[in-house]
Amino acid sequence: MNMKKNINLLYYWDAEGYKSWQKIFSEKAPEIKVFNKDNCIEDDIDVALVWLPPEGFLKKFQNLKGVINLGQGVDHLLKPGVVPDKLPIIRLVDEDMSKQMAGWVSLQILRETCFLNDYLEQQKNKIWKTVNFIPGNNWTIGILGIGAIGSHVAKSLTNFGYKIKGWSKNKKNIQSVECYSGKEELHKMLEDCNILVCLLPLTGETKHIICKETLSLLPKGSTIINAGRGGHVNETDLLEMINKGHIKNAYLDVFETEPLPEDHSFWEHKSVYVWPHVSAQTNTLTSIDQIVNAARCITDGLEAPNQINRSNGY
Ligand code: GLV
Repeated sequence: MNMKKNINLLYYWDAEGYKSWQKIFSEKAPEIKVFNKDNCIEDDIDVALVWLPPEGFLKKFQNLKGVINLGQGVDHLLKPGVVPDKLPIIRLVDEDMSKQMAGWVSLQILRETCFLNDYLEQQKNKIWKTVNFIPGNNWTIGILGIGAIGSHVAKSLTNFGYKIKGWSKNKKNIQSVECYSGKEELHKMLEDCNILVCLLPLTGETKHIICKETLSLLPKGSTIINAGRGGHVNETDLLEMINKGHIKNAYLDVFETEPLPEDHSFWEHKSVYVWPHVSAQTNTLTSIDQIVNAARCITDGLEAPNQINRSNGY
């Protein structure tokens, strides 16, 4: 008989998510009991499955052996005092999230390359007229961050015939994608991109990578798409470069402060498209197996797949 060890897991995020995770754990791994902060015995918790836990919160769970992130980006867990120093942190790497991201990024790119914004305006005035036609291979799309998600997005965009360039910290080799790395090569890549997509992890090195200096290197009339983290973009610089006419449009899913404050000028700017951090959402069905495996590895003292390296920041 295969006796699986009982594990007590703390879920920390929204009430609705708590119910769906409890249900899926009970179906897939009934030996893992799911609690929330209000119904658990703190000392009995082995593993935590979390999104945005406040500083100091996880310290209360004296017997916690590891933390599983409910998403792919772990920057929020690496802030001082959020996850006690010695605990392993595991991030999700789910193909379904990469597919969602490819869909979301393609949607924003196609809006530009098919001139959707102009055609929507024309429809309001019943105008039947070709706005412009720029063939696919005249568009160069630059992707900052070509790891698990970015490389999937890059490959899927090749189907539209665009020229795809990708930049990462360490040089990558991806079929049909011109790969760049390092600061100098970043500058070289930017000079050719009509559309720049950011899918990087947020670290000390990538904070404000999209700023006046880098935006000025893009050709006039370029568009920015950010689905990495708000901290990648210097929002003041971006607004200035849009208002000057150097940047045409910005499609943003993430912001320095979330939810985006009501008085933020992005809300009403005609060239900024605001999305409420929804470009790739955690899918319980496709991620449960790796979460169960991570919980088992953590409680068995083994290294789980996708354990992050705290000094790299991802
Ligand atoms: C979402 O933002 C994630 O990091 O998965």
